[in-house]
Amino acid sequence: MKFQGSDNYVATQDLMLAVNAAITLQRPLLVKGEPGTGKTMLAEEVSTALGMPLLQWHVKSTTKAQQGLYEYDAVSRLRDSQLADEESSTKVRDIRNYIVQGVLWQAFTSDRPVALLIDEIDKADIEFPNDLLREIDRMEFYVYETRELVRAKHRPLVFITSNNEKELPDAFLRRCFFHYIKFPDADTMKQIVDVHFPGLKQELLGAAMKTFYDVRNLPGLKKKPSTSELLDWLKLLLAEDIPLEVLQNKDEKVSVPPLVGALLKNEQDVTLFEKLVFMQRHNR
Ligand SMILES: Nc1ncnc2c1ncn2[C@@H]1O[C@H](COP(=O)(O)OP(=O)(O)OP(=O)(O)O)[C@@H](O)[C@H]1O
Ligand SMILES: [Mg+2]
Repeated sequence: MKFQGSDNYVATQDLMLAVNAAITLQRPLLVKGEPGTGKTMLAEEVSTALGMPLLQWHVKSTTKAQQGLYEYDAVSRLRDSQLADEESSTKVRDIRNYIVQGVLWQAFTSDRPVALLIDEIDKADIEFPNDLLREIDRMEFYVYETRELVRAKHRPLVFITSNNEKELPDAFLRRCFFHYIKFPDADTMKQIVDVHFPGLKQELLGAAMKTFYDVRNLPGLKKKPSTSELLDWLKLLLAEDIPLEVLQNKDEKVSVPPLVGALLKNEQDVTLFEKLVFMQRHNR
């Protein structure tokens, strides 16, 4: 079982190595990187390439680790207990009818090996990763209500993504294989664009990439545009049929690139960029 990239996803050599290392070690792959650098998509592509179903758990600030294991639906049970019919009363007697399986439970009990994505783990509070240590390590957990031990039939291939909003605890890190998706260099970026827009004119791509990296390398930006923003922008340029000359910016007017809202996402960054264009014009 080895991941060798896919037609829809450009994986660099070190990313493929990391995925395969995690598979070999049977440890979760912890993927970090700027927003929009393909962390979530990696899990989707690897699972497709390896022919495994993908179970996804999208973490929010309110998500608790327990929700991934199971939840006891006390409200339904109470409601059923108030109904007089016989069917409800037999149902109420067995607590198992009110245990709702979480995504980890489903991954553990699946008949075939699955991939499991725990997306944006840094959104939850600090206890969240700590609460999952044992489950990730031993691949088992205990259901207190039914006194049952749920143990993984097959170890799922686990992907965990983080945007670095919070530090993860050391004990958690110890259990993972780590990979940071570096921002793609120009060559890799060209390949990524090619996947999304095959046959794009080289001049247009060159000019757009130049503008994109100029914007990105601007010191002091609050939010640097990333891969997905470049892709959005290119899509717009194509849809609006923006002529190449506009991008090559031969005119002397102070101007930011067309449709810059796809690249820069707040007014300070736009102002900064305008200033730079202005200064460059006066230095010439
Ligand atoms: N290596 C790549 N190959 C092909 N497409 C890519 C690649 N990296 C990013 N993309 C494109 O960028 C988009 C965003 O990727 P994705 O949602 O996986 O980012 P992310 O890192 O999970 O971002 P966030 O941290 O905001 O969730 C994808 O839908 C895809 O179109
Ligand atoms: Mg994501």
